[in-house]
Amino acid sequence: MDVDLKNKILKLKAKKNAVILAHYYQRPEIQEIADYVGDSFGLSQKAATTDADIIVFAGVHFMAETAKILNPTKKVVLPDLNAGCSLADSCPPDTFGDFVAAHPNHVVITYINCSAEIKTMSDLVCTSSNALKMVNSVPKGKPIIFAPDKNLGKYIIKQTGRKMLLWDGSCVVHEAFCIDKLLDLYQKNPGAVIIAHPESEEHILKTASYIGSTAGMINYVKEHPDTKFIVATEAGILHEMKKEVPNAQLIPAPIQEDNTCACSECAFMKVNTLQKLYDCLNNENPEIIVPENIRAKALQPIERMLQLST
Ligand code: 13P
Ligand code: SF4
Repeated sequence: MDVDLKNKILKLKAKKNAVILAHYYQRPEIQEIADYVGDSFGLSQKAATTDADIIVFAGVHFMAETAKILNPTKKVVLPDLNAGCSLADSCPPDTFGDFVAAHPNHVVITYINCSAEIKTMSDLVCTSSNALKMVNSVPKGKPIIFAPDKNLGKYIIKQTGRKMLLWDGSCVVHEAFCIDKLLDLYQKNPGAVIIAHPESEEHILKTASYIGSTAGMINYVKEHPDTKFIVATEAGILHEMKKEVPNAQLIPAPIQEDNTCACSECAFMKVNTLQKLYDCLNNENPEIIVPENIRAKALQPIERMLQLST
């Protein structure tokens, strides 16, 4: 790590009363400098309770936007505005609005990986760590729309037996895993255990002994320190797993050959760098701005999630 740059960030952070929140998929040097590293749920909880004046969000846009929705008077900055999300992009507000209008009387549950506009059309937001709980909080018999991730939606349907109308969205990173290569790797590593994020496709999830959020997967590795794991999620998570269990045997799940990236890395998460983090804190820009009419509406389903999670 660039020690000078690290020290400059720490000094500036103290001077400006800023907090650095980072997701487990961020570059290791960013995770190392953060005040808090977590999954989407943990990050939204932290964002809801921080007393900092500036939130530097080292993650992707929908995460920083959620922090801004929860903190209208604080400044929220993102190191690079290009840190988007293929899953959020797979759910454009106008077509989703038509979909919701075509299915009246449905409870609309949206995965937090979506834009503020989509959240304004939602009754309840969920993350990968509480999706089961959120769906189960809806009275039985009430029809549900679940968006935007169809893979998480299918998984929740299997777990709960609930009927849900699914939006046809997905994450490019989690759909890149190759089942044939995964089974081959599994055979070559007797005793290995597959763990997967629920954004992965059904055939990948079928092979997994544990399915959960990034924080859940890290906890599972901590609880089984002597096990060899094949990890089906974004490779950035290995940093925290290795930190928690230094001798952990971790193999990233293999991806399809025709994929543009070399391994299961989220290009959006990786556009943030330590230099860009320093620059955005120094310049207080790029800043996340959410129009007040959208923010106030989007806040309601997020607050419902936070309340139901306590
Ligand atoms: P988690 O909430 O499990 O960290 O997932 C976020 C995400 O973007 C997964 O691709
Ligand atoms: Fe979005 Fe997938 Fe990247 Fe997560 S891994 S931020 S869902 S594109």
